[in-house]
Amino acid sequence: MDTGVPSDISQPVVARLSRAAIFIVATINAGAGSESAVKSLCADLSGIVKAVAFRDLEGELSCVTGFGSDAWDRLFGSPRPLDLHPFREIRGRHHAVSTPGDIVFHIRAAGMDQCFELATHIMSRLDGHIVVVDEVHGFKYFDNRDLIGFVDGTENPVDQGAIDATIIGQEDVTFAGGSYVVIQKYLHDLKAWNQVPVEEQENIIGRKKLSDIELQDSAKRTYAHNVLTNIEENGEQLEIVRDNMPFGQVGKGEFGTYFIGYARSPRRIERMLENMFIGNPPGNYDRLLDFSRAITGTLFFIPTATFLDDVQADRAMADGSDRTAG
Ligand code: HEM
Repeated sequence: MDTGVPSDISQPVVARLSRAAIFIVATINAGAGSESAVKSLCADLSGIVKAVAFRDLEGELSCVTGFGSDAWDRLFGSPRPLDLHPFREIRGRHHAVSTPGDIVFHIRAAGMDQCFELATHIMSRLDGHIVVVDEVHGFKYFDNRDLIGFVDGTENPVDQGAIDATIIGQEDVTFAGGSYVVIQKYLHDLKAWNQVPVEEQENIIGRKKLSDIELQDSAKRTYAHNVLTNIEENGEQLEIVRDNMPFGQVGKGEFGTYFIGYARSPRRIERMLENMFIGNPPGNYDRLLDFSRAITGTLFFIPTATFLDDVQADRAMADGSDRTAG
């Protein structure tokens, strides 16, 4: 294993996939007061998560907190993670938009009650200091399917494979133990998708719809989702860990997939996105995008849990306060 400095504890990016999740993306208001409020929350967050988690230990509550490129500079300055930059839009056959986001909270638990409770505490601490630009409550659907009816998450790496795919090692020693995450909110045109014959849907995804068995390589279309997102470097597959969640509002006809992908380098996710949106070769794009539109896109850096805990010390030093967790 080559995951760098073991003494720094990573955030739970490879937490077990959960039945419920809340995704909150926010911008931080201008001014030192708001930056200080965010930093103070960072330091106290592990204690808050612990308190809510303890109310239902079987709920496996977890929270991952990440920062956008500009926010990193405002809050923490130098040094900065080597690969952190604003999400770059992609204009190909389809458009991967880049949208604002300074901070993300990815809250997971077995039940929405714990997710909701934690989100409430986080938001009350940040009241008046952030603007929530997107909040999505995701749920697991039958057999871990997304709303287009396919099982989603099967090929995720697990255990050490998941750690190797997501946790920064020697390539950025200062930030070893950290990670990157890309999120995109997709809306599906389910009426159109449901008119596509199941066999062609299976060609688009590259797996059988009912059984979730992967199509044989010889039967896969070059544009299959699992062909275009399968990328290699020096003969080695570059993996990411996804924890996509369905969401929606039936009355509004809104049916979505909240894509969330963790990786030790954003480059591997960007390559997947280029293959999907532009095509590989260009033009051989992901047909899933004919039915699924990305309406957000943001890249965040996930510092270690140790880093977040230490933010308090920085803040206390900076403003001379001696506050305990609120
Ligand atoms: C509308 C949004 C999306 C939906 C509904 C979706 C759905 C799926 C499904 C059903 C699978 C097959 C089962 C599995 O292995 O999980 C899959 C695989 C995969 N997806 Fe997506 N996906 C979406 C967006 C993305 C994006 C944006 C990326 C990367 C940037 C991505 C990366 C992958 C990868 C790496 C795999 C595994 C491929 C393999 O090695 O077999 N997906 N996705």
